[in-house]
Amino acid sequence: MRNAECKWKVEPRCDGSLKFRTPHSAFRILRVPFSAMSYETLLFAVRDGVAVLTINRPDKLNALNDQVVDELAQAAERIASEDAIKGAILTGAGTKAFVAGADIADLAKQGPFDGKARALRGQAMLRRLETCGKPVIAAVNGYALGGGCELALACHLRIASEQAKFGQPEVKLGIAPGYGGTQRLPRIVGKGNALYLILTAEMIDAQEAYRIGLVNQVVPAGELLPTTEKILRGILAMGPLAVRLALEAVDQGLEMTLEEGLLLEANHFGLLAATRDMKEGLTAFLEKRAAKFEGR
Ligand code: COA
Repeated sequence: MRNAECKWKVEPRCDGSLKFRTPHSAFRILRVPFSAMSYETLLFAVRDGVAVLTINRPDKLNALNDQVVDELAQAAERIASEDAIKGAILTGAGTKAFVAGADIADLAKQGPFDGKARALRGQAMLRRLETCGKPVIAAVNGYALGGGCELALACHLRIASEQAKFGQPEVKLGIAPGYGGTQRLPRIVGKGNALYLILTAEMIDAQEAYRIGLVNQVVPAGELLPTTEKILRGILAMGPLAVRLALEAVDQGLEMTLEEGLLLEANHFGLLAATRDMKEGLTAFLEKRAAKFEGR
């Protein structure tokens, strides 16, 4: 079964840095004890089960330097493993940028081996977010370029403000996408649209991103976070086990043959039939009342 396992494991070391290991099951829950969790480049707030993660380097248009990537990896692990967190929203600080890409100053210093290591670290961080088992939505408030577009692609849904702009401009810099853009972009918008963006390095606005299926919804800037939160809370009102297994089936099924994917789906369907949540969801419908899911 291809890709049924994630190739990377992210482990925090006691000095606060992270260790990446292979291989490990993608949708696993690691119980990692995080003590005092403070970040220098992120804002992390949890309200009523929703984690809002803000990349906070507005003077550099929230560019992803190594520290941001490390802190995002820690935050992704926290989202995956903390029971109090049911879903997450990712956004950028300020009004101008979601994330304007990997930090070009860092990239300028790299050689072939640290370049590869940097790509693998960023990919592992994004994969952990993508397979955290809880819904994650990007609230794209401005430029989402290069690594910023790739960060949004690793989220399960993308809501854009009317000011958002998307692009994969790496080839203009003599590099190619390194945080999953060549893989996730064609899966989301199709090969033709993906190659157009990657090869031309063209920046597109939110409406064009919506037209090609890169974003799910475009809203006025002032409505971006409330709309994103409303969508996320709507998902959180559904059966959490059902949401988790649906995320997993779509993620893994895309890499399987149709037959394998259908079998995975049937297995999940059967598994859910053994849950109290399924009984509650169906009974609540029949009794014409709202379901109260327990995640069991
Ligand atoms: N890495 C590092 N720094 C970045 C950055 C990046 N990806 N994107 C923007 N910045 C920095 C700029 O260097 C500038 O810093 P400074 O004030 O210390 O000089 C600051 O953020 C503001 O950016 P600036 O270029 O002045 O804003 P702008 O409004 O004129 O242009 C962009 C906005 C997004 C068009 C432009 O910043 C840009 O093209 N950025 C790079 C996008 C990119 O190629 N990303 C992929 C990287 S692989």
